[in-house]
Amino acid sequence: MVRDRIDELIKLIDKANYEYYTLDKPTITDQEYDRYMQELLDLEEKYPDLKRDDSPTNRVGGQVIDEFKKVTHEIPMLSLGNVFNEDEIVAFDERVKKVVAQPKYVAELKIDGLSVSLLYKNGVLVRAATRGDGVTGEDITHNARTIKTIPLTIKKPIDIEVRGEIYMSKDSFNKLNESGENFANPRNAAAGSVRQLDSKVAASRNLDCFIYHLPDPEDYNIYTHEDALRFMKELGFNINPNNKKINDIKELLDYIDYWTLNRSTLPYEIDGIVIKVNDLNDQQKLGFTARNPKWATAYKFPAEEVLTRIKDIIFTVGRTGQVTPSADLEPVRVMGSVISRATLHNEDYVLAKDIRVGDVVAIKKAGDVIPEVVKVIKERRSGAEQKFQMTQTCPICHEKLTRKDDEAAYYCTNIHCPAKQQEKLIHFTSRHAMNIEGFGDRIIEDFYNLGYLKSYDDFYNLNKHKEELMKLEGFGTKSINNLLAEIENSKHNSLERLLFGLSIRHVGTKTADILARHFKTLDNLMAADFDSISNIKDIGPIIAKSVTQYFASEENRELIQRLKGHGINMVYLKEISQVTTEFTDKTFVLTGSLERFTRDEAKAKIESLGGLVTNSVSKKTDVVIAGQEAGSKLTKAQNLGIDIWNEEQFLNTLSKY
Ligand code: IVH
Repeated sequence: MVRDRIDELIKLIDKANYEYYTLDKPTITDQEYDRYMQELLDLEEKYPDLKRDDSPTNRVGGQVIDEFKKVTHEIPMLSLGNVFNEDEIVAFDERVKKVVAQPKYVAELKIDGLSVSLLYKNGVLVRAATRGDGVTGEDITHNARTIKTIPLTIKKPIDIEVRGEIYMSKDSFNKLNESGENFANPRNAAAGSVRQLDSKVAASRNLDCFIYHLPDPEDYNIYTHEDALRFMKELGFNINPNNKKINDIKELLDYIDYWTLNRSTLPYEIDGIVIKVNDLNDQQKLGFTARNPKWATAYKFPAEEVLTRIKDIIFTVGRTGQVTPSADLEPVRVMGSVISRATLHNEDYVLAKDIRVGDVVAIKKAGDVIPEVVKVIKERRSGAEQKFQMTQTCPICHEKLTRKDDEAAYYCTNIHCPAKQQEKLIHFTSRHAMNIEGFGDRIIEDFYNLGYLKSYDDFYNLNKHKEELMKLEGFGTKSINNLLAEIENSKHNSLERLLFGLSIRHVGTKTADILARHFKTLDNLMAADFDSISNIKDIGPIIAKSVTQYFASEENRELIQRLKGHGINMVYLKEISQVTTEFTDKTFVLTGSLERFTRDEAKAKIESLGGLVTNSVSKKTDVVIAGQEAGSKLTKAQNLGIDIWNEEQFLNTLSKY
């Protein structure tokens, strides 16, 4: 009885939500809706055992998780290649035409949010995950359940994965920032909301979702992208109404022109147009590059330039000590973000363009890059503008700056400069370095000023101050425990992360990787001399000099000792798998072309799981992985009775680890 009523209420509420949020055609009044919702809440409170996972009462949030679980995407979530102008669009169409005689497309708005994968079992939403690096994302189900345009239950009790974009409307974004938050643009606001442990936050942020991709269309007898969109719409998903079937390049260019002119009328931000080959068979023929489908591309709107005035020119210190001039601007909106700072790069740049305080200037912003001042509108000068003068001292520690002969940049060489130290600490925690999540710039600055963080090894001393830290304003047991767990985790990182994190000059991620792979342990690297480093392929004398200098310093050697004392791993782990896998000690041969990997990527994966990759098939070969158009190696393997995997089997096996 009660169970039936609960089922009935959920049906009524889901239908009302769908009609209201997705179709924009409500059929019941707000009062009726509230009454159903209240009745459901009351029943769930009275009979907690009967509360369904997919209950719309979840939408108000309340579910709190301890950490984001990792999720493996069985079909990788690829991103799209980009085109930036008409010529490149035409070239894309030409490339397609080499494979498909008369391609038809679907053009879609490129929603500026973050992509999401939604998994339904038996018609019920069971998992939502971010894209992450494409293969491993994060489980955000608790937050996705609060988004009204994501159905908790779809119209057929089937198993299905769909993909789309979570975004925040311009309206919700403005309201959020008016309420005191300070997000740069709706995309950041959406991403920040989805990355919250407590789903109440996401629930309060009014997020939305458009679905645009069905990864496994064959399962549903669907043969065009258009049909996939229609099918997903019938299931109750929110599909963008502006998607359009395109018959030729002219229609495509018209669509792009139309939305370039009219994008500002949309209630949400778009940053381009996505073009997809409609016929799924044609898509398959076109295949993939290592990273992107060849059957789709994204046209990116050109970077927007706007005018504003320079209020002041200020100087900031980076982790290398480089002091950079930046323009402090009268705030303007550029490409959906409010900008009040733009880089001026260095002294030469400012002098060459004769940029002055008080000038009206054009600001440009493209995608994620830092906005820059591109030109001065000299006609707008009043004569009161002040000529630029590069500072000669560090704005933070006031040490005299030095300019290296071969560079336009000025450096603060005081190794104790607090700004430099803080920037280095921030870098140490960053994603490609030690990847310690939860440390924003502000926390590092606070901990630094309070004396808890001075040097990298202090991260690993923080647990000794746990009680004190928990008492700090803005921190609780949970956030400190999370931070400490993240720090503890970072001890097991492979060596290249530490190397990159140390902020050794000229050692970026790639160099760190090459050095770690070559020397295997930090001890080996520290013992190496200039020649043995500069002789490594892709490493030159500049890097070799910088690395040997770094490790020659007594202070740096002591730091390494202290890190060692904390149990930080200093060994290259990438190629040494910790567990026995189906690849361990087996010999693999790759043949034909794989759609989802380059040869190198496939090889790296196999090696990382303990396998060996060789070039030719022999009796010693254990497995041949055969992609498209595999030739004589495949025949030979068949003759020898060697195990043969296709790409899907390879992917399936990989996904186990
Ligand atoms: S299709 C294999 N369609 O843009 C299909 N993507 O640079 C991959 N995006 O990662 C995506 N609107 O986050 C597709 N209508 C749309 C989109 C869209 C926004 C995002 C998505 C993707 C990125 C590609």
